[in-house]
Amino acid sequence: MKIIIKDNKASASKQAFAIFKNSISNGAKVIGLATGSTPENLYQEWVDSQLDNSNLISINLDEYVGLDEKSDQSYHYFMQKHLFKQKPFKKSYIPDGILAISNPQKASADYNKIIEDNPIDIQLLGLGQNGHIAFNEPGTAFDSITHEVQLTENTIQANSRFFSNIDDVPKSAICMGIANIMSAKEIVIMAFGENKADAVQKMIEGPVTEKVPASILQNHPNVTLIIDQSAASKLD
Ligand code: F6R
Repeated sequence: MKIIIKDNKASASKQAFAIFKNSISNGAKVIGLATGSTPENLYQEWVDSQLDNSNLISINLDEYVGLDEKSDQSYHYFMQKHLFKQKPFKKSYIPDGILAISNPQKASADYNKIIEDNPIDIQLLGLGQNGHIAFNEPGTAFDSITHEVQLTENTIQANSRFFSNIDDVPKSAICMGIANIMSAKEIVIMAFGENKADAVQKMIEGPVTEKVPASILQNHPNVTLIIDQSAASKLD
């Protein structure tokens, strides 16, 4: 794993954008995207750039069960707001959170087929405070494919900052599995702030274990971790 430590989120995000731009100029066509606070500056770099997405396909990691683009907490809405409206892709895929209410198996299988049909060239990841990647919580099997996940209290608590009330945070999501993520040819993972320092330390210095989903990235041949000083504060 290549590790890049920057002074702050802004410079780290510039660096991350340079990696995406470079991969795209080298032929990457299918781009795996993430939501949350972590990629916001990166998407702003993308929007402000000359990069043309019209020949690219995007595939997002996850969506809450029960939310769609009409809900401003949905990941559909987030992606429209931060990237797709300004820089549309040829085709953008995000799991179907509405189908998932009645038929999570079909929503998962349909999405998994999309990933199989469009192998991901470069995948962006954030890191959960508990070491999750996408919503693959501690204990998720490393060979998992797209599935419905029950969110842990830790994740519901962490994500409640985006909702007016913690009770409004959905309890489950449809999410790429760890095997889907590992199938990407290249991975860029970012983490910022003191509250990510423990997870960063366990991810790269701890054992590879399903208790820390992100630790599997130690086994991927092409991962770049980009963090700020605070997220790096617990490294040896
Ligand atoms: C988002 C996702 C999550 C986040 C992680 C970090 O699509 O799948 O794994 O990347 O929870 O969230 P933030 O960036 O809000 O700290």
